[in-house]
Amino acid sequence: MTARVPAKLNLQLAVGPPRADGYHGLVTVFHAVSLFDEVTVEPGARDTVRVTGEGADRVPEDGDNLALRAVAALRAALPRRAARPGGVQVTIAKRIPVAAGLAGGSADAAAALVACNELWASGFSQQRLAEVAATVGSDVAFALVGGTAVGRGRGEQLTPALVPSTQYYWVLAFADGQLATPAVYTALDRLRASGPGKTGPDDPDLDAALMSALRSGDAARVGGRLSNDLQPAALSLFPALRKTLAAGLELGALGALVAGSGPTCAFLAANAERALELAVSLSGAGVCRSVARVAGPVPGATVVTAG
Ligand code: C5P
Repeated sequence: MTARVPAKLNLQLAVGPPRADGYHGLVTVFHAVSLFDEVTVEPGARDTVRVTGEGADRVPEDGDNLALRAVAALRAALPRRAARPGGVQVTIAKRIPVAAGLAGGSADAAAALVACNELWASGFSQQRLAEVAATVGSDVAFALVGGTAVGRGRGEQLTPALVPSTQYYWVLAFADGQLATPAVYTALDRLRASGPGKTGPDDPDLDAALMSALRSGDAARVGGRLSNDLQPAALSLFPALRKTLAAGLELGALGALVAGSGPTCAFLAANAERALELAVSLSGAGVCRSVARVAGPVPGATVVTAG
């Protein structure tokens, strides 16, 4: 059983102060884009995972693997009277770069959930799967639903964004390096503690102007409202990204931001043609490791083959 699952961008990421549990309260506008991992699950003697493709050597293949944790979480959530499913061999074909701010690990966990739900004929609704997803990681529930959605809490409380299905064309600039999400949140706390007036709001607000831009379907307006509170923290840990962002804007992007906790940079283009031009110029500018053109929104984790 194979499921395909997209990467995500955050069109807004507003971060509050750290909570007692160590997470940060946030408001975010998630947006799923057409860069996909594929996760295959097959019955096996015990739970194992094998990773191939982009950055495979940097994905843990032990109990820290989010897809394996998702398999275990779904098994534990099955009703007591259900037959215990046996082990599962998970194979992940990666195209979403690892530790890049695109929630690739969370995506793989979401794909493992939908694939095992089919393999075991568990019959969990998307709502029930989302509850299991939230126990695995903050971004896993969004990778299940995809599209464009507002996330609250630590990102796991989702409401669909009521916006038209306009396609947006993006160029992603992959960096030569990685950032660990917890380190970026810690850097944000440090930056805020060291500057007067730099503390974030206790209860961050959804950006009404971004939502209105998304309702209008006007890419230029959307590009002007992209925002990410984690960006200064990511830039402090990875200063070369400043050059990448500046280059993309100079080359005509309608908007630019660091994707999630970075270090990928995302650029919004006016249309597919402009995205192609921008991708070509950016890759020639020597400000990133490689580029990819993607479009969004796209659906979340979907079973693509049975067998
Ligand atoms: O939930 P997930 O495992 O994806 O989060 C990874 C790390 O990112 C957390 O351990 C935490 O350090 C940080 N994080 C946070 N606030 C959030 C989401 C993640 O501080 N809302």
